[in-house]
Amino acid sequence: MHGSRPLKAHRNNRKSTGMRTHDRQSIHGQWSSRLTFIMAATGAAVGLGNIWKFPYLTGIHGGSAFVLVYMLCVAVLGIPMMMAEVMLGRRGRQTPINTMRTLAKEANAGQGWQLIGWFGTLAGVLILSYYSVIGGWTIGYIVHAATGDFSGLSGDGATSLFGDFVGNPWIQVAWHTAFMLITMFIVARGVQSGLEKAVSYLMPALLVLLLVLVGYAMTTGYFMQGLAFLFTPDFSHFSGTSMLTAMGQAFFSLSLGMGTIMVYGSYLPKDISIAGTSVAVALSDTMVALIAGMAIFPIVFANALIPGAGPSLIFETIPVAFGHMAGGTFFGTLFFVLLLIAAWTSSISLIEPAVTMMIEKFNMTRRTAAVWTGLVTWLLGLGTAFSFNVWAEVKMGGLTFFEQIDFLTSNLMLPIGAIGMAIFAGWVMSKHVSREELGMNSAAGYFIWHALIRVIAPIAVSIVLLHAIGLF
Ligand code: TRP
Repeated sequence: MHGSRPLKAHRNNRKSTGMRTHDRQSIHGQWSSRLTFIMAATGAAVGLGNIWKFPYLTGIHGGSAFVLVYMLCVAVLGIPMMMAEVMLGRRGRQTPINTMRTLAKEANAGQGWQLIGWFGTLAGVLILSYYSVIGGWTIGYIVHAATGDFSGLSGDGATSLFGDFVGNPWIQVAWHTAFMLITMFIVARGVQSGLEKAVSYLMPALLVLLLVLVGYAMTTGYFMQGLAFLFTPDFSHFSGTSMLTAMGQAFFSLSLGMGTIMVYGSYLPKDISIAGTSVAVALSDTMVALIAGMAIFPIVFANALIPGAGPSLIFETIPVAFGHMAGGTFFGTLFFVLLLIAAWTSSISLIEPAVTMMIEKFNMTRRTAAVWTGLVTWLLGLGTAFSFNVWAEVKMGGLTFFEQIDFLTSNLMLPIGAIGMAIFAGWVMSKHVSREELGMNSAAGYFIWHALIRVIAPIAVSIVLLHAIGLF
């Protein structure tokens, strides 16, 4: 096991420059092992993005080509960006805001760099406000599944089941509230007793449930068709937009550009390899997305459903599939439990920067900070909860409240944050600091990372951003 593997002693970091930085300890606790960090960061990365968004985007963009480009983006952009974000976090050992301020000082750069931290903290709260509503859907669907509402369901029946569900503002608020309460409860207990304990139970359970679902998919008789859809190269439905979508999805799925990974990095002990752990997290995240695809598409094909159905794929289509299968009530319930667990571990990571910010800036206890951030996030989430019913017609620029927040965060804030971090790590931070903090054995490895983070990542992410705001 990784956790019991002897760790390499960290080389020469005591005698080099930046002594004070090196002696910094996170005031919020520290991961107890490398495996715990990998599981927590994977828990943050694996969420609705993998299990709900990845399959539906793959379906819309024609399958295998999207999967291929997505994996390429994870390898070329995602892994170097994750290394940069973990490195910044571990170097600074504070919240994204204070980390950026300290590191900017260390590099004799302007204080404006802490905006990256403020920006990311705000993005986390904004993302969580709607993430919690979708997380609430998974709770509601656990109940629907468990009470047998899926059995014998037709396509129309599933559509109206979902329509009635999102159309009722009180149901929306109730499940949104339940999701936020669970999130706040774990966050309030802190990184050691809260996060660690939660992820060390939830992540293995998640994997087991996914594999059970794949096992079920194998019995449908359409497993090979599902695999072919995901893995037989076919670029016929692949466009320039697909390329950009795949890149954006890689960033969202890995939780990059917001400060989530920076906070998790700040809890990482000095002697653990950043490159190795980043690769492990990126691989686990991608594996979960692929396993989710392998579970979902055979079920889609076995029931003559449409792979490109869009965001409704899970909530309107999958219940039909489960409704027509032997054991559908049981497996349907498992599916939404799985989705809830994934959303829950991601939501913890989305609120963590704001909670640690409140602790540092306002000298609050963790519990008070969790309550206040949770309350603000919950209030914001009401806008999303109502945007599917009573506020469905309240639009700005043709977008509902939910669509506005989703556009603002995914298409604007995350790419801007990612570019900022890449430029800081590649241009502002001195080479010897980043080299020392990454602690890579291989000079060639460091050279490649530095070139990717300095040139390739800022340019590639700029392309995504300019596309998102419609400049080309
Ligand atoms: N990556 C998560 C998912 O796939 C969502 C998420 C958690 C996230 N933390 C984040 C996305 C930080 C962007 C930034 O569902």
